[in-house]
Amino acid sequence: MIGRPNLEAKVKLDTDFRSGEIDPRIFGGFLEHLRRAVYGGVYDPGNPRSDSAGFRSDVLDVLQPLRMPLIRYPGGNFVSNYDWRDGIGAVNDRPRRRDFAWRSIEPNTFGTDEFVAWCRTLDTAPYLVVNLGTLGAAEASALVEYCNSPSGSSWADLRIANGSEAPFDVRVWGLGNEMDGPWQAGHVPASVYAMRARQAGALMKGQDPTIELVVCGSSGNSLPTYMEWDRIVLEECWDIVDYIAAHRYSRNERGDSAWFLAEGVEIDQILDDYRSLLGYVRAVRGSDKRVYIAFDEWNVWYKNRESDGDWQVGTPLLEEIYNLEDALVCAQYLTSFIRNADLVKLACLAQIVNVIAPVLTRADGVLLQTIYHAFRMISEHARGWSLQPLVDSPTYLAGDRGQVAVLDAAASHDENEDQMAVVLINRSMGDALEVTVEIGEAKDADVIGTELLTGDDPKLANDWDRRDRVRPRTGSAHVVDGRVRIAMPPISLAVVRLQLTDS
Ligand code: AHR
Repeated sequence: MIGRPNLEAKVKLDTDFRSGEIDPRIFGGFLEHLRRAVYGGVYDPGNPRSDSAGFRSDVLDVLQPLRMPLIRYPGGNFVSNYDWRDGIGAVNDRPRRRDFAWRSIEPNTFGTDEFVAWCRTLDTAPYLVVNLGTLGAAEASALVEYCNSPSGSSWADLRIANGSEAPFDVRVWGLGNEMDGPWQAGHVPASVYAMRARQAGALMKGQDPTIELVVCGSSGNSLPTYMEWDRIVLEECWDIVDYIAAHRYSRNERGDSAWFLAEGVEIDQILDDYRSLLGYVRAVRGSDKRVYIAFDEWNVWYKNRESDGDWQVGTPLLEEIYNLEDALVCAQYLTSFIRNADLVKLACLAQIVNVIAPVLTRADGVLLQTIYHAFRMISEHARGWSLQPLVDSPTYLAGDRGQVAVLDAAASHDENEDQMAVVLINRSMGDALEVTVEIGEAKDADVIGTELLTGDDPKLANDWDRRDRVRPRTGSAHVVDGRVRIAMPPISLAVVRLQLTDS
């Protein structure tokens, strides 16, 4: 596919036009007890590539550049029938359990203590989800006590006896997972869940008033209870929670890449829906308080939906292979979160290793998927203030999404360094795009780096024999007459870094 440089787009940016401060936690991840995510993924005792704790060092090495400031754990659907007490204490005494969600055997050799230790090794923060499917407020409160209390009470003393003198200091807690979904263990109507969440949240904040709570919102915008579930839950729990969870998995089952590459339109719509609902509930409650979005599961996921583990421990499930178009869709989640920085304060790529993940493992190494590169390119540089981009772009026909802008854009400004990162996506499969970025009059710009992710086929993917088919390369960006001109081939993602100076 050869691109014709016949399309042009403009982006106007001004460091005074801010849409909010980017919370680095929008670059979070998610690790579930789901087949090879934990066992053979992050945790692989006995493998020569693992450290003395059994953590795969090569996995830690490739996760580090993603700069994920927090990781959600242990589920996902898994958590809704999980008893955290099975996963602590002497490893040989821990029970093997049947996992309802993925019909797998959970050996419990990796649990809360191992996860927190793994987070410390990666230099990330644990975000723990409690079981509000088959357990309740008492067990959730006991877990907060186990993790966050100093000595002098039985659960805290048990943590110390298990080898961790200092509290784990877990800041963010999820009140269950996808409780709106009929597939979820313990699924109940919104009003019943809302009461459960409120009671559990009150006890948990009673243990530690400084923690932040995430209440379950809708699992997706195609569910019949979308927004109504969220309204009921928010009205009941407004005073006790800090975030509402949104989830989405993007799918190109119809094989329509033009349509799929416009996925950002729908992500923006979901954020708009939540913006409206949060404003509504805040107004009817007459509240000054803000509740934000935790988009704590997002990714592309449709090619490998096998979810029956046949009551085994480690054979693969959900090992999705990612291609170039998937990477560009993932980039659009991040551009949308950045543009809505005042609303989205936390988000988790679902997941991190092997299971719908940027990183795949074999016993002898790791493979970086296309989405790894898109995530890293953006998470490494989009820091500081989110800037409102004024985009003037040609459009293309994106199937039943209608005419959609060819260019998707987001930008950040780090005021300490006076540097800008501009994220640009050319959604066209046939046309190259020349993008001109204009910075407000008060500033001049120099290009300090441009990375480009592209390829000649939206279905291009990496595999164990061709690991670098899709990887970032140096892109072309130049300052001409005070404006930055960026050359974007068809189906491409560019991240341009600019050093600003006062003009
Ligand atoms: O991430 C895979 C699964 O997707 C999670 O367990 C669940 O929460 C969602 O439906």
